[in-house]
Parts: sequence; C-alpha cells; structure tokens
Amino acid sequence: MPTLKSRFAGEKILLVDDEDILLELTTLVLMVLKKRGFEVFQAHNGEECVRAVAKHRPALVLLDYMMPVMNGRDALKQIKINYPDTYVIMFTGKGSEELAVELMKTGASDYLQKPFSNKNLQERVDSILSIRKVELENRELLKEREFLQREIEEWNRELEQRVVNKSRELEIAHKEIIYSEKLATLGHISAGMAHEIRNPLNSINLFAQILLSAPELDAENRDYVEKITREVERIDNILVQMLAASKGEGKERDYVDLAKIITRVLKVSKVQLKAQKVAVDCRLDKNAPMIKADPLELEQIFTNLIGNALYEMPNGGRLGISLESNAESLMIKVTDTGRGIPPENLSRLFDPFFTTKEKGTGFGLSVVLRIVRGCGGKINVENRPEGGACFLVELPLLPSSVH
Ligand SMILES: Nc1ncnc2c1ncn2[C@@H]1O[C@H](COP(=O)(O)OP(=O)(O)OP(=O)(O)O)[C@@H](O)[C@H]1O
Ligand SMILES: [Mg+2]
Repeated sequence: MPTLKSRFAGEKILLVDDEDILLELTTLVLMVLKKRGFEVFQAHNGEECVRAVAKHRPALVLLDYMMPVMNGRDALKQIKINYPDTYVIMFTGKGSEELAVELMKTGASDYLQKPFSNKNLQERVDSILSIRKVELENRELLKEREFLQREIEEWNRELEQRVVNKSRELEIAHKEIIYSEKLATLGHISAGMAHEIRNPLNSINLFAQILLSAPELDAENRDYVEKITREVERIDNILVQMLAASKGEGKERDYVDLAKIITRVLKVSKVQLKAQKVAVDCRLDKNAPMIKADPLELEQIFTNLIGNALYEMPNGGRLGISLESNAESLMIKVTDTGRGIPPENLSRLFDPFFTTKEKGTGFGLSVVLRIVRGCGGKINVENRPEGGACFLVELPLLPSSVH
C-alpha cells in the first residue's frame, strides 16, 4: 500500500517501546511515520518517555503498555498531568480490552492492539491528530470566550458604575435647581415683605420716639415704650437680614486679602471670645493669593460662621480658623468644639428660616451660601469626629469662575 504524506506532516511524534521486545514493530512503525512526513523521536522506557515529552513537546506519543523501569500507564499519567496538549495512543496486547478501557480512562486518546496493520496505524494516528487539532482549537476558543466574557462583565460593571455616578450627579443637580428656585422665590417674597413691613415699622419707631421724648411719661410707661423700641429694632434687624439673604448680584468686586478680612472679623469678636472663654486657633496662609470679591460680603461669611460657632460654645471651647490655597482656590475651615449638628438637620442647615435657636432667624447660613455661590465657590459642613462642627468653604481664584 502506498504511504502518502499525512496532512499533519511536520508534527512531532514520540515512539516509545522496549526495543528488545518490539524491535520489528518499532522499525516498521518508524518507517511508516517518517515516510508520512512526521518528525519522529524515540524513547525506550517510561522514564525516557516523560523526559522526551518534556523536551520535544510532541503532538502525539505512541506508547507501549509493557515496558521496564516505568510502565506505560504511569508514563501516561505523568504526560496527561503535566503535558495535556500531548495526546497518547497506547499499544496493548491482544485480548486486553479491560486494560484498554482503563487506559482510556487514565487519559489515553486511543489504543492499538498488537499486532496491528500499517493501515490501521496510519488511520489512528491521523484521526487522533485531527481530534487533537479540533480540541486544541476549541480550548483556545473557550479561553478566548472566557476572556471576552470577563471583558464584557468588566465593561458592564464600569458602565453600571458610570450610570450610578451620573444618576447621582443628576440627582444633586436636580436638588440644586430646586434649591436655587426655592431660594429665588423666597428671596423675592421676603424682599417684598421686608420692604413693605419696614415702612409701617419706621412709623411705629417714630411714634415710640415721640412718646419717649414726652416729659410727662412716667417710669412704668417709659419702660413699656423702651421695650417697644427694642422689639421694633429686633424686627428691623430680621428684615435687614431677610433683605441681605435675598439680595442678588451686582456687588462691588475688588481684589481682596481674605486673611486680613478674617483677622478683622476675629478682632470684632474679641470681646465675646474673651467673655465666653473661647480660645482661637488661627492658621492663615498670609501669602494666599487675593481673590476678586466684594469685601463686605466676604466679611459677612465669617461673621455668620463665627457667630454660629460661638453660639455653640457658651461656656468655653476652641474656635479653629484656617486659610489655605492652591493654584485654583482658597480653602477656609471654621471649626468649633460645640455640640455639633444632629444628622437629621444637616440637609436643612442652609435653608432660609431654618433655625434651632429661640431667637434665631435662620438666615445666617443661607446668606453665607448665597455669597459663596456668587463667588463660584462651594460650602460643606460636617461633624468632627472629636465633637463640634466643621464648615469648609472653597472659593475659586479664577475670575472666570466668579459670576
Ligand atoms: N457651628 C454650628 N454648630 C452647630 N449647629 C450649627 C452651627 N452653625 C449653624 N448651626 C445650626 O444651623 C442652624 C441655622 O444657622 P443659621 O446661621 O442659618 O441661622 P441661626 O444661627 O439659627 O440664626 P441667626 O443666624 O439669625 O442667628 C442653626 O440654628 C443651628 O441649628
Ligand atoms: Mg447664625
């Protein structure tokens, strides 16, 4: 029978048998395989076989079961554990079907019972090599699929995260819009109210002053009228703050040294600080860049924040103020050692009219927020782990971010 070149010509095949026993067979097999274009190596026992597989990484091993030193089954086990890409066809003796089944279970791809024909050998070799080819390609495809699946999962996770982040951003933006609208409406109403109320209030004050200047006013009535004027003054104060909270833009902007402004506010609070036994921990970067803003407005920010902080420390404590800068912005921190803010109030703190104080207006922080935003900045508040509140103000240096 003519031996044609195999379509797997060039593949490496390792032929393993005990030369003494199977000399003739070996010679025959060798000849057939070489003629068909395979690169053939030889080993004569199990140990040699495993070493040769490690060295040449053949596609196929033709392995005799009966061998000295290490028998065919042990060699087969080692090959399948360490070199699964190498396929094995076992040679077994005639009538050993049970053994053949066992060898297949151990990992052999096929078996040939001796004696076998030339044709039989060629067919088995080609068939196992083509199975091997398909299986290896399958394995590669599987690996690729797993890799792609992992990639898709990773993309999905990223996408989900991006959707979550975007939704969160949108939610915040939405809240901001609602909040700004609320502020604008409130501002509008309160500005109108404040304006309307101040006129009759002025009249009340004027009449109270006239009464006060009457010489016939007795002490008891004088006391009442004085109380009226004090209350009128308080109402007027509230109205002034309402107007401040609703005031829009159009402020005088100039280059302002924030460190100087903070120092000035602290100076004004000196008497109160001393009376309440509050120590000041002031860390101002004197070289912080100037910022373009309305100095009176900036002063207002710190008057309000420090005012709130002092309210929380009636019997002593520590007021912390720091000013730092980087290339883009100024960062100011105002801390106190008071009671801190109950978590349920954190989200309402900057709402106009929100107050927990008996005589508070609840305007202070909304004014602060309006000014900070007017400068293109941000304000945040948090409770300090060691107790007390911490207000963080960030003001951008770039004029473009000032509106
Ligand atoms: N440093 C702080 N520590 C704890 N709570 C604070 C602090 N600053 C503000 N708050 C809380 O925020 C609320 C609102 O403050 P905001 O300055 O707007 O108004 P107010 O201080 O209550 O009134 P006003 O400013 O007119 O005196 C306060 O009533 C208080 O409950
Ligand atoms: Mg306040």
